[in-house]
Amino acid sequence: MSKDSLALTDNRTGRSYELPIQNGAIRAADLRQVKVSEDDFGLMSYDPAFMNTASCASRITFIDGDKGILRYRGYPIEELAEKSTYLETAYLVLYGDLPTKAELDEWTHNITFHTIIHENIKKFMDGFHYDAHPMGMLVSTVAALSTFYSDAKHIFDVESRKKQTYRLIGKMPTLAAFAYRHSLGMPYAYPDNDLSYTGNFLNMLFKMTEVKYKPNPILEKALDVLFILHADHEQNCSANAMRAVGSSQADPYCSVAAAAAALYGPLHGGANEAVLRMLKEIGSKAKVPEFVKKVKAGEGKLMGFGHRVYKNYDPRAKIIKRIADEVFEVTGKNPLLDIAIELERIALEDEYFIKRKLYPNVDFYSGIIYQAMAFPVEMFPVLFAIPRTSGWIAQWEEMLLDTEQKIARPRQVYLGQDKRSYVAVEQREAGAGKAGPTKPKKAA
Ligand code: ACO
Repeated sequence: MSKDSLALTDNRTGRSYELPIQNGAIRAADLRQVKVSEDDFGLMSYDPAFMNTASCASRITFIDGDKGILRYRGYPIEELAEKSTYLETAYLVLYGDLPTKAELDEWTHNITFHTIIHENIKKFMDGFHYDAHPMGMLVSTVAALSTFYSDAKHIFDVESRKKQTYRLIGKMPTLAAFAYRHSLGMPYAYPDNDLSYTGNFLNMLFKMTEVKYKPNPILEKALDVLFILHADHEQNCSANAMRAVGSSQADPYCSVAAAAAALYGPLHGGANEAVLRMLKEIGSKAKVPEFVKKVKAGEGKLMGFGHRVYKNYDPRAKIIKRIADEVFEVTGKNPLLDIAIELERIALEDEYFIKRKLYPNVDFYSGIIYQAMAFPVEMFPVLFAIPRTSGWIAQWEEMLLDTEQKIARPRQVYLGQDKRSYVAVEQREAGAGKAGPTKPKKAA
């Protein structure tokens, strides 16, 4: 028996099996040989919410949640945040290696020259109600891009994929900024190709009557670092949505719209908004101990704390905390910061949080920075979606080129009714249809 294998005995039949272990995993399909009879479908693994199922093999992002490590293509997030730019990091995430100078120049040129959107998209945006949520507008308009670029359906054509990548990464900030200006009833500000990726984004958001907008270099850099931190995070809810929808061979605009829709939910891209609400509710440093007491008594959660994967300090939170100081030098300190620091100090010394390995996550400080930079809370998930677009496309492309991947189609454990006959409406009894679950059955 190989050492890299799992010995399994089915107590229903007394039969034994040997399942190979590769890269720390068994193949779920290998379980199918475990049967009680010839016509049995075979054993499945039941894993709601993918708690312990690897849905793909990936070479993009590495996370060690116990050690607090995050790396894109092998490069530690700390080094990228310090030395790289968002566009360079996006290239790395997408293509696997840092670009040469010539590659970076070409890449930057191609993204910059795809920032303008078709005038009809603008008309489309005008149709939204004045108080439309910018994330709803972003999700809808990125899906609508699919109708403008019919060449995007050639998903196995490498040149077409490159073109759609330029368009998506180039146009997301434009769509996001136009959504923001629409909500204020302000005229749209067109892209300025002389500016950096984040400088141009700030221009499209905040330009008023000046002929040329000059972004504050510290805020421009801070936003760029925040974009680096949000570029990818392996198989989270939105990356999974991107892969699942993309696996049906939908075009990348529709797949990105699906991923952005997944990000919209408060359990994924909306937690930093909840942090701000919580800090406002606490109101002052003096009230922090009382709030922590309530959390420990089970009355609510400490938002921005805890993570499914990180059981140590989220490395992104550490970097964000540093950026906060630089941003507040320009904007003035967000008064919520003192409450946040006190909350972190008390929580990190408290047995309840230590025992459960609850540390600040990426959302604990990001909302405070975004607020200080004058972003309304509705823009927070949008600010997440823009940089995550590179990660989504990288995950999508990896899935498309992986010969082991097929259309995503999970199994289920059927617990519904067994076969029964149709009953005419006048013969049905009240309360029918409320029968409890029947014996588990597997779908073919
Ligand atoms: N405050 C207080 N207690 C908490 C918190 C928290 N933020 N998070 C977890 N716990 C407690 C749970 O009540 C549980 O306690 P118990 O063992 O006494 O029952 C224990 O810690 C384990 O928690 P789980 O819910 O099992 O942890 P899980 O990994 O499923 O949840 C999650 C992770 C959803 C992030 C959770 O920590 C949470 O809700 N945090 C607050 C919301 C938040 O900040 N989300 C952003 C995540 S980062 C991102 O998505 C970009």
